[in-house]
Amino acid sequence: MSIVIDEKKRLFTLHTKNTTYQMKADSLGTLLHVYYGKRTDDSDKSYAICMRGRGFSGNPYEMGRDHKEYSLDVLPQEYSCYGTGDYRISALKVQNGDGSMAAALRFKEYYVSKGKYAIPNLPAVYAKESEADTLEVILEDPSSKVEVHLLYGILEENDIITRAVKIINRGKDRIVLQKAASMNLDWINGDYEWTTFYGGHVTERNVQKSELDHGIHSIGSVRGTSSHHYNPFVIVSDKNTDEEKGGCYGFSFLYSGEFLMEAEKDQVDQTRLICGIHPDNFAWNLQPGEEFDTPEVMMTYSGEGFGILSRNLHKTIRKNICRGEWKEKRRPVLINNWEATYFNFTGEQLVAIAKNAAELGVELFVLDDGWFGKRDDDNSGLGDWFPNEKKLGCTLKELAEKIVECGMRFGLWFEPECISEDSDLYREHPDWAVAIPGRTPNLSRNQLILDFSREDVQDYIIGRLSDIFAETPISYIKWDFNRSICDKYSMALDGLSQGEFAHRYVLGLYRVLEALTGKFPHILFEGCSGGGGRFDAGMLYYTPQIWCSDNTDAIARLKIQYGTSFGYPVSTMGSHVSAVPNHQTRRTTPFSTRGCAAMAGTFGYELDVTKLSEEEKAKVRQQIDRFKEYYDLIQYGEYYRLQAPSDKQCTIWEMADPEGGEALVSAVYHHVEANAAPVIVKVQGLKAEAYYQLHLNMEDIADLPEHAREWFTGQLPYGYKDGEKITGAALQQCGLVIPDALQEFQAWQIHIALCNEE
Ligand code: GLA
Repeated sequence: MSIVIDEKKRLFTLHTKNTTYQMKADSLGTLLHVYYGKRTDDSDKSYAICMRGRGFSGNPYEMGRDHKEYSLDVLPQEYSCYGTGDYRISALKVQNGDGSMAAALRFKEYYVSKGKYAIPNLPAVYAKESEADTLEVILEDPSSKVEVHLLYGILEENDIITRAVKIINRGKDRIVLQKAASMNLDWINGDYEWTTFYGGHVTERNVQKSELDHGIHSIGSVRGTSSHHYNPFVIVSDKNTDEEKGGCYGFSFLYSGEFLMEAEKDQVDQTRLICGIHPDNFAWNLQPGEEFDTPEVMMTYSGEGFGILSRNLHKTIRKNICRGEWKEKRRPVLINNWEATYFNFTGEQLVAIAKNAAELGVELFVLDDGWFGKRDDDNSGLGDWFPNEKKLGCTLKELAEKIVECGMRFGLWFEPECISEDSDLYREHPDWAVAIPGRTPNLSRNQLILDFSREDVQDYIIGRLSDIFAETPISYIKWDFNRSICDKYSMALDGLSQGEFAHRYVLGLYRVLEALTGKFPHILFEGCSGGGGRFDAGMLYYTPQIWCSDNTDAIARLKIQYGTSFGYPVSTMGSHVSAVPNHQTRRTTPFSTRGCAAMAGTFGYELDVTKLSEEEKAKVRQQIDRFKEYYDLIQYGEYYRLQAPSDKQCTIWEMADPEGGEALVSAVYHHVEANAAPVIVKVQGLKAEAYYQLHLNMEDIADLPEHAREWFTGQLPYGYKDGEKITGAALQQCGLVIPDALQEFQAWQIHIALCNEE
């Protein structure tokens, strides 16, 4: 068992394969955080908590006058409270029945169980009973009788510990939770940096490392969604940590709404991290006997750099968060009509695209925005989820059948959480739109939000979509959401409960998704929020892939997918080959480069195939064959970031078979200058003594003029001959030479396969 408890000392030690976590209830009953990091023994490490009296850091009354060294203001704690002597950022802020803002938690009891706990109505890591253990530590406030259950899920093999909290009002009065974070982690020493992932629409998840020096540092979202602007995932690391060395902690929040991740370095150089629902728009009423469940945080630690940290998360997201039929099944290569047609299409055009694409090996046709209601631009129609048969030239079912006849699956776009003022749904139910009475609500992309906190709205959407899913041969749904939420207010909540709106909205969304994915298990759901505006581990519980960004430019995608890879696996990143000049950046890149970037994701196309030349069509066929050949490696392989997009010339990544049988190294020159240094990278994950054969994909030079192609084939200017055998040790230690760029934005894919030893 991964949980070791010393009853007498009230000492709790959690072990995973490579990490240890420890906490201890002290004589007062405060649950102290003792240790989290590299695996150690079970011995009590609380000796490292050095108590010294600090001026202006008060002492709990029960400690008496002789214990000026005991102060909650400096003690490392498992779950800190506002109002009773800890002046740092805190995890819990309760407004009691008498109006006071105070909570003080004391250890009460604990439970241990096999398997991983679940959280009612919220996404959570799941595991087989034999693969996880749960520790539940119960604390209570003796004055208010508020009970706090700290939940720890331990996935030993994955090096993952999860945390969530249940709060129960066991008192006699109504209380209001003003803040109820999912976790608190205190480091008693060390100087740390944190890596956060900031961005915006079409520029998501840029990597930013900054020092956690004195003061409060925070990222978060008050946009109703997890947002493009900050991802609910951070890494806290030792200074100078890189891909292969240094201690680092990952914290991924399984939540798709407003969040706050904050860190404070205190007066004695201790660092505290708090993650949870953003308190700005949160005030949750708990009547006597009622409970509140926080969303979950998934934590991992690596003593050897960011690479292992990411791979721990990748594995857990793939196996223990994503669910459903499509979790392990090979996902279809798709074509989406959005950038091909935008709103402007006829049923005939769609069938022509599908037919052409099917001939090239594409397996799924996705009909994007514009197929329903009155929807020829973004001014109207949202909410009216009834096919526009005039525009399609037939019923939706007939269109889907025509596409299926081409040998394709059929997929459909929805944006169920929004409503246009110019829609029948709005005319019928104006109170279903989110708006504050007496104020005009903000429009964004000319649309309003449908109040998903309301059960009648949730039921309406479940019913309407179920009808369409049931009567149409649908295999795939793109679930989009194209704005941030403001003017937060629900007509269905009373004035005192409006602080519950933002979280109730997310619970409503999860309820709808749970119902639809449960009823239609054969449908592959892809999440989307103007691209990656809701790319979080919570959504991945319902939609095993998410459209990574509305930016489809291959070079811009290098950066977006690089940032995303720190917290999320390739199998979750929706990525397509689109037309050039690119619609977002106007950049022109070779076809092979676009294919290479899209293969670091779920892979598909988003262009009008009917307009492709025969030569381009041949390239599509080759790319699809290659993607299928390398599918397992790409989607389930171990992911290594070999060179970042911030490098001078070239972004390089690798997917390796966990057994060391093969690897695929992909390199894209994002910048080239004359007389540049050669590009050499150390390949990871190979068996040192084994021999490998290198294969350079020649289609990567298919974009070159013929004479250049011939020259290249004769020269192989990269140190090895194609097909030459070389040891894993040489590739790992001496490195792999990446061929030079022969054109702007050159991409290379080099396949490395184990061969019989000689
Ligand atoms: C969002 C999505 C796009 C497309 C449009 C349609 O921006 O991210 O992929 O579906 O909506 O309106």
